[in-house]
Amino acid sequence: MGSNTWTGVALVLLTAAITKTEDPFWSFAEATLLLGILVLQLRSSERIWSTKRATRHRNVSVTSIANHKGGVGKTECAFHLIKRFASVSAKQILVVDCSLYGDLTRKLCGPSSELDRFEQSNATIESMVEDCFRNPGRLERIFGLGGAGFSARNHMLNVKESALHSDAPSNLWIMASRRGVAAQSSRLHDEPATDALLSESGALPHLCAAFRASLSTGQDDWLILFDTDGGEDHALTRFALCASDKVVVPLRTDLDALPRLIRMFGFLNSLTVQGLSTAAITQAFFNQVVVGDGNTPTQLAPFKPRSKDTEANMERIRDFFDAAAKQYPAILGAVASRKLSDTSDTFFTTVRNGGASFARNADDPYATKPETGVDADLDRLAERILPAV
Ligand SMILES: Nc1ncnc2c1ncn2[C@@H]1O[C@H](COP(=O)(O)OP(=O)(O)OP(=O)(O)O)[C@@H](O)[C@H]1O
Ligand SMILES: [Mg+2]
Repeated sequence: MGSNTWTGVALVLLTAAITKTEDPFWSFAEATLLLGILVLQLRSSERIWSTKRATRHRNVSVTSIANHKGGVGKTECAFHLIKRFASVSAKQILVVDCSLYGDLTRKLCGPSSELDRFEQSNATIESMVEDCFRNPGRLERIFGLGGAGFSARNHMLNVKESALHSDAPSNLWIMASRRGVAAQSSRLHDEPATDALLSESGALPHLCAAFRASLSTGQDDWLILFDTDGGEDHALTRFALCASDKVVVPLRTDLDALPRLIRMFGFLNSLTVQGLSTAAITQAFFNQVVVGDGNTPTQLAPFKPRSKDTEANMERIRDFFDAAAKQYPAILGAVASRKLSDTSDTFFTTVRNGGASFARNADDPYATKPETGVDADLDRLAERILPAV
């Protein structure tokens, strides 16, 4: 029998016990016992988990890099940002690679032969999901979160300590995706069971809250960055958006991206409305913009874009965000709260085109530095994303 049936039976018996029994002691004892059964049934039902919201914790900050449009620079910029975060911050930096292709995992960890280590060490998102739902401890089932057993720490690898890459900073951790790791060796691997759980409105908030709560215990401060895929409504992207406080959106300067952007806003907003996410879009940046002569800053960029059309498009995209902020104030409050008198925009910034050297990091990822101008753009972006310590 399902838990709802048991709950119904307990309710009927409870009512009968209270109304029929004449002996006050037995009436009280039966009522207490049956009330206990009722509470246990409710607690053990997965549906009751859906009331658990992703609680904020002082020492855990979670940011997703997201845009439904592919190829806008989510992974490449995430890679450069992570290196900065790891070198300037005393926090532990956790990268959660929510891409089906494992691009960021490969960039941070090197050759694909090493990637099986994630599977062997259970350091994958899918393994964390299984841990959270398939084998919940008895206490967790009864009392919800906080029980013994589950910890996101059991599902990540320290890149340096685990010798995935000896040049990596010592505070860099990674949680890969099982299918991303498989994709590195040209294998197709699906995870329908994990995706089903990540699409379940009862299960998802429980996972997000358990993930964050398990990292909040202990002395460490955590800065967590999720990379996501282009495309709509992948289960892993959904998880990233639900587990995050903040979303950062890389943009191209062509207007073709706008239909995808509005769908992404709608998607994030629907997660917020359902109470599945508390994430807000706090930052957007135009990526791979070509610098013009004179290097004069504009309101949207710390330099003058080479093409007038590019500059006009950037302004159009900014206006589009302003309009969307009126439609979706819950997720775009950071756009709406800008002071119009500001000379430099606090929501948008720009990363210039770094040419081939920007991506030349496969062999020696921790030593490669982008060119000076791009370096400054990335520093500026990193400062805006890094929470005040
Ligand atoms: N600022 C930049 N300068 C030069 N090249 C860049 C810049 N940003 C991104 N690129 C290059 O553009 C290509 C696409 O970038 P990237 O893979 O990061 O996009 P993505 O948004 O992660 O794509 P997907 O949605 O497919 O995961 C890569 O070859 C990357 O090296
Ligand atoms: Mg990518």
